[in-house]
Amino acid sequence: MNEHDSEIISGMLAARGYTPASAAEVDVVDIVIINTCSIRENADKRFFGTLGQLKKAKTKNPDLAVCVCGCMMQQEQITGKIRRSYPWVDVIFGTHNIHEFPDMLQELYDNRKRKGNRIDNKLRSSKEFRVDRIYEDRREIVEELPANRLFAHKSFVNIMYGCNNFCTYCIVPYTRGREQSRDPENIIREVRDLVIDGVKEVTLLGQNVNSYKGISPESGQWDFTDLIWALSETPGLERIRFMTSHPKDLSDKLIDAFGRCDKLCNYIHLPVQSGSDTVLKRMNRKYDRKSYLELVRKIRQAAPGIAISTDIIVGFPGETEEEFEETLALAQDVRYDSAFTFLYSPRQGTPAAEYEDQIPEDIKHRRFNRLVDIINEGSKSRNAAFVGRTCRVLVDGPARKQSVSEEGKILLNGRTEEFKLVDFAGSEDMIGRIIHVKINDSNTFSLRGEAVND
Ligand code: 5AD
Ligand code: SF4
Repeated sequence: MNEHDSEIISGMLAARGYTPASAAEVDVVDIVIINTCSIRENADKRFFGTLGQLKKAKTKNPDLAVCVCGCMMQQEQITGKIRRSYPWVDVIFGTHNIHEFPDMLQELYDNRKRKGNRIDNKLRSSKEFRVDRIYEDRREIVEELPANRLFAHKSFVNIMYGCNNFCTYCIVPYTRGREQSRDPENIIREVRDLVIDGVKEVTLLGQNVNSYKGISPESGQWDFTDLIWALSETPGLERIRFMTSHPKDLSDKLIDAFGRCDKLCNYIHLPVQSGSDTVLKRMNRKYDRKSYLELVRKIRQAAPGIAISTDIIVGFPGETEEEFEETLALAQDVRYDSAFTFLYSPRQGTPAAEYEDQIPEDIKHRRFNRLVDIINEGSKSRNAAFVGRTCRVLVDGPARKQSVSEEGKILLNGRTEEFKLVDFAGSEDMIGRIIHVKINDSNTFSLRGEAVND
């Protein structure tokens, strides 16, 4: 979601004639924007480190506008620190007023002009000119914001904002506010326009898409599956994905759509967080191990071959060795296609940060490594099962390490419906198209193959 917010910020600036620059140009650029994440502590640390470095850039380039935004700005202890100790920050905005950013920037320039561009301590003392606006919650959903997409052929689409779940470890409900769904008509129109602009794949975004509740003036209340079926009617749209889905309210209706809706990709990200019922309870996840495993069984029955990924937190407060081993056993049972594994990170303001029995870092790390080994075994075997198959791959671009093969072809990569990364040799005109690729080899994180005729 933060990534998509960055695309929107970039899109709004592009509409006003700005162009992107590289980090190396920081001494000559007009604006630097840091869009922050507060999900875990290391993001916080990096933010203040980067902000510190910008002081130098601001000394060399006093006209620079240093702008900060994102989830961290929704936390008072963070904005308080910026206001007190980082006078070179010019614009502060939050997750609920991204759309106001261009106007806030203009306000900054107006303030500088009006107040005479005074230079203080060789540094333009931004405190005097600073534009600082944060709202505690979203008042209304602002539509029709432009976005600078990373890929021409695929796009994120917000379908809802915020979260009502209050998992005890998680800061998101505090930084993103309560759930609010976009109207289905607006989403459908956005997707139609994206397809006209060349998009073949959309990823629908929400903290918990399963609780999407759209209101259509014509047909009343829509749930998430209604939205998927309606979007699947978009001519020219090839693929629909979504992120993220909470196991507690994943409906049979959605599971059925996995089996029957051709455009809905055979892939689901289904965060489990822990395999232990007692930990899940302390996390306030509202499902247990048995019901989660039952969901996985139903999904695999409805959509054979579907890829499943997950999020797992290691070292939640009070996690015993036995509780952790239940997570290991669950990972072994499910055999995920992939998983994001995290060390528990206490977030100020969340209930779990106050729990007793915080787990020492060394134990967290040891458990983490044991879990990653099991996850990787699962990924490796799930990937190996693709060897010999021919997959439809939406080609993203040249592979990271650009190389030219024997016949002058370039190394490309893309994703199968199951979100598997595939490397293969091809030509530039394949980028953005769906190409049939025969899989010849696999490893833990990717597949390798060759393009075959359709
Ligand atoms: N510590 C560690 N991981 C966390 N996540 C959310 N909050 C925390 C935290 N405090 C993880 C969860 C979530 C993913 C986006 O980030 O696994 O699904
Ligand atoms: Fe955080 Fe839980 Fe909401 Fe996901 S569902 S954003 S983990 S509170």
